[in-house]
Amino acid sequence: MQFIDLAAQQRRIRKQIEANMQTVLDHGQYIMGPEIKDLEGQLAQYTGVKHAISCSSGTDALLMALMAYDVGPGDAILTTPFTFVASAEVIALLGAIPIFVDIDPKTYNMDPDKLDREIRNPESEERHLKGIIAVDIFGLPAEYDQINSIAKRHGLFVIEDAAQSFGAEYHGRKACSLADVACSSFFPAKPLGCYGDGGAVFTDDDALAEKMRSIRIHGKGSHKYDNARIGINGRLDALQAAILLAKLDIFPEEVEMRQKVAQRYTDGLGSHGSLVTPFVPDEMRSVWAQYSILAEDEAHRTQLQEKLKAEGIPTAIYYPTPLHLQSAFENLGHKTGDFPISEGCSQRIFSIPMHPYLSKTDQDRIVDKL
Ligand SMILES: Cc1ncc(COP(=O)(O)O)c(C=O)c1O
Repeated sequence: MQFIDLAAQQRRIRKQIEANMQTVLDHGQYIMGPEIKDLEGQLAQYTGVKHAISCSSGTDALLMALMAYDVGPGDAILTTPFTFVASAEVIALLGAIPIFVDIDPKTYNMDPDKLDREIRNPESEERHLKGIIAVDIFGLPAEYDQINSIAKRHGLFVIEDAAQSFGAEYHGRKACSLADVACSSFFPAKPLGCYGDGGAVFTDDDALAEKMRSIRIHGKGSHKYDNARIGINGRLDALQAAILLAKLDIFPEEVEMRQKVAQRYTDGLGSHGSLVTPFVPDEMRSVWAQYSILAEDEAHRTQLQEKLKAEGIPTAIYYPTPLHLQSAFENLGHKTGDFPISEGCSQRIFSIPMHPYLSKTDQDRIVDKL
């Protein structure tokens, strides 16, 4: 059994993928070929956002967004410690300081009350708070109505880290349209993934879009050798865009298939008292990048994972160590106990196979073993 079965999806659309790749081989425009514009148009239309700008990865998408806001040494950006390292890594990379805010115990996303408290923390006066990176963990959007209004009150920008949530919904709006800028990833295992690294930034703001387009290509100005600012080599390959175009055709259907798989898990596991299944608030729709469950404690999790492994059922832990306890962020001086909800989740959480092509038989086996 596969944790994410990309081969099943490929069997469905292999011909289209090959045809799209063939087109790139024929025209030879490997960098910024016509597939890029086509993809960006379709991404903008799907998410309902004015500008979708493809780029080389979800990490570079976050970097481009922060650079567009001129984040640098002395600035501080709020984010959660219960996420993939990239969400905070890009902050540190620019010489700014990540300020962690603990998560909501039910959604595992940034807790807006704690965000508000952290901003009001008297120490904040010395920290030059500039913005917030809220993460849509496991494919579920964070609480943007609250986060955006807190940000507005304090003059902060909000970046939606939608690396895991392309295809999710929040109060009738699509993920990637929920903050000032959104950043998504097309890493192969993501709900919409290419066959290598890829990503995109999304915004309705014309000026910010223009700046991010420039940053994506070495800070390009009016022509190729006019460098208006410091940028990066952040383009998406035309070949990856060609693959994404084939996948986008079936993506809305796959999102529905993901809902069915998730619902079957929740129906099957919900009655098992010792496991906590994912919570989805009203008027939200996860895209189920992961289906993650809380065991009673670390020992219980190990026991369940071993039981499943013995049956050939793969599991994974996202994330075993919250970022504030990672060596990479040692300089921030955090210790165990600083973000107890994130720490508790890291000890208890594990994810089970999740993809649109998971069969009922396989799901029944997983539910039965758990
Ligand atoms: C929450 C989050 N942010 C950022 C990233 C970075 O995306 P990429 O791997 O495309 O650089 C990921 C990827 O796993 C992620 O899960």
